[in-house]
Amino acid sequence: MKKEGFAVIGGGYWGSNYIRLLSQMPETELYAVCDKAQDRLNAVHRRFPEVSLHQDIDPILEREEIEAVVVCTNPASHFEITKQLLEAGKHVLVEKPMTLTVESSAELVEIAKEKGLTLMVGHIFLYHSAIEKVKSYILNGDLGEVHYLYSQRTNLGPIREDVNALWDLAPHDISIFNYLLDSNPVWVNAVGTKFLRGQVEDAGFIVLGYENGALGNIHVSWANPHKVREVVVVGSKQRICFNDTSPDEKVRVFEKGVAASATAYSDYGEYQLLIRDGDVISPKIPVVEPLKNEVKHFIQCKQNGERPRSDGVNGLVVVKVMEAVNESVRNNGTPVQLKY
Ligand SMILES: NC(=O)c1ccc[n+]([C@@H]2O[C@H](COP(=O)([O-])OP(=O)(O)OC[C@H]3O[C@@H](n4cnc5c(N)ncnc54)[C@H](O)[C@@H]3O)[C@@H](O)[C@H]2O)c1
Repeated sequence: MKKEGFAVIGGGYWGSNYIRLLSQMPETELYAVCDKAQDRLNAVHRRFPEVSLHQDIDPILEREEIEAVVVCTNPASHFEITKQLLEAGKHVLVEKPMTLTVESSAELVEIAKEKGLTLMVGHIFLYHSAIEKVKSYILNGDLGEVHYLYSQRTNLGPIREDVNALWDLAPHDISIFNYLLDSNPVWVNAVGTKFLRGQVEDAGFIVLGYENGALGNIHVSWANPHKVREVVVVGSKQRICFNDTSPDEKVRVFEKGVAASATAYSDYGEYQLLIRDGDVISPKIPVVEPLKNEVKHFIQCKQNGERPRSDGVNGLVVVKVMEAVNESVRNNGTPVQLKY
């Protein structure tokens, strides 16, 4: 089996996970790591002495055996780095958010298309078996109609320099909601608050409106001592809760609900609310590292010319929603309409 030749740009907190996986997976060969910080390169060298290390991207652009590159630097540098890689003919898996503007994301999509290269964005939850499970309940009709979704992504840190907490955290939830609903929001409103350094928003609340009337609500914070990683989908037949911090019950399905039904007095427009009681189920979820699923998907798409689930266009949509979030935050929560 021919191994896929990889490099990783950005060997920080999250990049270390890619470096570990790409060094261990039988289908990949990690040739090089680039990080502008020498201490990060030293840390990589201690664990993986055979990998070439660079503070500059040029040797990676030039090496032919490196066909695919993971970009895991700070978001403000994603555009320039990914552009150089695509122009040098490399397939790219870039971390979220893809870039910080719609214009730059669209440019990357265009270059990848022209050059026939795979461009994928690291929207990891689309490769999480628990989200797959939630999606299966929606697709097979068990959940019924999706009324609304909400998520909470709060913790103490990591606090970033180049983006606010909304740009750092909400792309996860936007990508999850869009995937579960198989559509993109048509309007958003959002508010944020700056309380740590007064420079960027440390916490925020976003509402997304979808064409079919479903609503999404996202609460993000990097300054909340209660760590929560939760997505809840409320449907007409079930409520499903994905709790990523639970070690053994990541998904719980509540077969309970409430529905309005016309009573004998329906002539007068009166309705009776019927509460349906039922079981709470905790389905079995395959234990696979989501990042491994993500990397395998990238390799499969690169090899077969398939469109990744979180391809450049998908990443661009998330950036478009985030730009609208920005605009709404600037205008104290005024709704912003979205067109695709
Ligand atoms: N999918 C997830 O669950 C997840 C989790 C955490 C972070 N992330 C994403 O991963 C990316 C990196 O986050 P992190 O937490 O690892 O940040 P980090 O600050 O720990 O690491 C970033 C690294 O990139 C290096 N770097 C920055 N600019 C560079 C450049 N121009 N050339 C070479 N190296 C450069 C820095 O020196 C640093 O070592 C971000 O886009 C973040 O949103 C994703």
